[in-house]
Amino acid sequence: MEMLTDKEMVTRICELRKELNAVILTHNYQLGEVQDIADFVGDSLELSIKASKTTADVIVFCGVKFMAETAYMLSPEKTVLLPSLASGCPMADMAEAEDLKKMKKEHPDALVVTYVNSSAEVKALSDICVTSANAVKVVASLPEDRKLIFVPDKNLGAYVARETGREMILWPGYCPTHMRITVAQLEQRKREYPDAVVIVHPEARLDVIDLADEALSTGGMIKFAKSTTAKQIITGTELGMIYRLSKENPEKQFIALSEQAICPMMKMHRLDNVLAAMEHKQHSIVVPEEIRRDAVKPIEKMLQFS
Ligand code: 13P
Ligand code: SF4
Repeated sequence: MEMLTDKEMVTRICELRKELNAVILTHNYQLGEVQDIADFVGDSLELSIKASKTTADVIVFCGVKFMAETAYMLSPEKTVLLPSLASGCPMADMAEAEDLKKMKKEHPDALVVTYVNSSAEVKALSDICVTSANAVKVVASLPEDRKLIFVPDKNLGAYVARETGREMILWPGYCPTHMRITVAQLEQRKREYPDAVVIVHPEARLDVIDLADEALSTGGMIKFAKSTTAKQIITGTELGMIYRLSKENPEKQFIALSEQAICPMMKMHRLDNVLAAMEHKQHSIVVPEEIRRDAVKPIEKMLQFS
């Protein structure tokens, strides 16, 4: 196969974007080369909203699989392409539909609140979805006399429970990438940069969140970075976040809280497989209609909050 330079690949991707009437939606953790060719870069909530409103025929989704599934479920008439099929989310894989069915049987009157980082099958068994950008607001709105089950992120769940004062039954899932961020690393960074503010993602452990100035979704981090007067920001989330933060705020310094916080699944899409996805219309993400029908309801309920 003929080898193209990056510049040639970018040119071809731009041509195909017009030919296919495609839009490239890219998550904040993606490689810089994939952020730079995107029509829109955002957090999982912002990407869902874009997917639900776009007039494009094809959505090239540069994120992990559950995000592409969400885009498809909101716009089933569109073609949703995931350049690398390997880009799953290990936390989403920690909740199986069969196990959630069992938990629901044990707590028949509980409402199921499901983080979007979950499979379509798990969403189909849920009452409402949340993302890290709206979880506190959504949970605070739920009837106080109902028990709540929170799936699958125990860290986000613990944070939301504390912020809302709502007791919740927490699924034992977690994000392996955010679990690598520790209190010891945070304390070390604070010693190195005593004037810096600390922002962390709420997928981090609660003891890490407690020592941070803000717990924010990746989209929240982008907004915070623009508005803060701080010149140094210790950033506790996946390392890819530093690329966009630095690009949009060249006068500020973003320091990774943990150099170990890398999500390999978010690094699977590159210029070459984005181009291949557009040339060969691969890999088309589809959710069977009998699952989509139920799974889209909690997502749509969540979007009413946005
Ligand atoms: P955001 O919704 O904050 O972008 O987070 C998605 C995610 O997968 C974080 O690990
Ligand atoms: Fe999943 Fe964590 Fe990767 Fe986000 S960073 S996609 S939650 S494994």
